[in-house]
Amino acid sequence: MSISTGTERRKTDHIRINLEEQVEPHDASTGLEQYRLVHNALPELNLDTIDLSTTILGHFLSAPMLISSMTGGVEEGWQITRRLAQAAQRLGCAIGVGSQRAAIEDPARSRFFQVRDVAPDVLLLANLGAVQLNYGFGPEECRRAVEMIGADALILHLNPIQEALQSDGNRDFSGLMSKIGEVCRALEVPVVVKEIGFGISVGVARRLQEQGVAAIDASGAGGTSWSAVEHYRTAGAMSRRISSTFIDWGIPTAVTLQMARRGAPGVPLIASGGLRTGVDAAKAIALGADLAGFAGPLLRAAAVSTEDAYDMLSVLIEELRLAMFGCGAGTIAELRQAPLLKDGVEWAVLNGPVSPDRAAPVRNP
Ligand SMILES: Cc1cc2nc3c(=O)[nH]c(=O)nc-3n(C[C@H](O)[C@H](O)[C@H](O)COP(=O)(O)O)c2cc1C
Repeated sequence: MSISTGTERRKTDHIRINLEEQVEPHDASTGLEQYRLVHNALPELNLDTIDLSTTILGHFLSAPMLISSMTGGVEEGWQITRRLAQAAQRLGCAIGVGSQRAAIEDPARSRFFQVRDVAPDVLLLANLGAVQLNYGFGPEECRRAVEMIGADALILHLNPIQEALQSDGNRDFSGLMSKIGEVCRALEVPVVVKEIGFGISVGVARRLQEQGVAAIDASGAGGTSWSAVEHYRTAGAMSRRISSTFIDWGIPTAVTLQMARRGAPGVPLIASGGLRTGVDAAKAIALGADLAGFAGPLLRAAAVSTEDAYDMLSVLIEELRLAMFGCGAGTIAELRQAPLLKDGVEWAVLNGPVSPDRAAPVRNP
């Protein structure tokens, strides 16, 4: 089997499994349910003038929403990505395409990544696996991925557990940090590093900041579990057992956000991994994120139609707007400062529970 045929089959499997199977952890969650935004009974705001706009990587967005990297490279994935790109264009959100490795290896596949004709203005992110930097790719291939789709930035994804669970996965993740730094210095566009649903620790975030990454997408655990996806892909009893053991692996999204924020305080932070509502997005922003990313739910909507993708993204944005109204935040900057409760106790991001004498009841913001 040629490399590109293998990649093609993997992409098709991933879409099918994500659409048909239960791919979220059984016994683990994002941890976001442990947090509440403090309700403000008198927000002193006009709902109609709440401002969701933000700027990231030098681009203005009407709402702080990212359609996370998913598909491309095969006809079915391309159609899904194009539907999502149209929704992003209409609603002023950002979008990433799925890994472009297949199209770097076989340029004929590059047509299955094109979205600029339907989304000329979106903040568009190219995507490659960082591990490819140990398997023949370098700054030149990264630059080609960006130019291939007219992207504004490049995402390098980190997926050690997923690769480890694939029978033909790339297993050598050694020495990658400095190679990521080389790409950051060589490329003319910003480089974002993301996980794919297992989270980023304090130490990894710190070293990524030192290497000059332009943003980190912590993509934590609690949403799509790539161990679950690989579990459904593999046939052997032993590999099925091993992948099943890792279904609940990873740093929950609510925790990894605070870890990445602590490790890389100067780097824009994207939240993803199990965000399912606009309230989740609001909590993630209050926990330190600049942007909220959604993958699985938007995949399922876009598999139906462009309108379904648009409606789903519209609902998420509307829920975020209402959450901001409900906690008295008129702008994304104010939402970043919004007070949170954890287990009924006021919670300071990075510092944990507010001192016990102030712990409960929580004063109104
Ligand atoms: C079908 C599918 C394909 C994906 N492919 C990629 C990819 O090529 N590159 C990448 O960085 N992340 C990829 N992801 C991971 C997502 O971007 C995201 O990090 C992860 O799914 C967690 O978000 P969720 O819980 O909202 O699904 C993919 C996700 C899905 C559902």
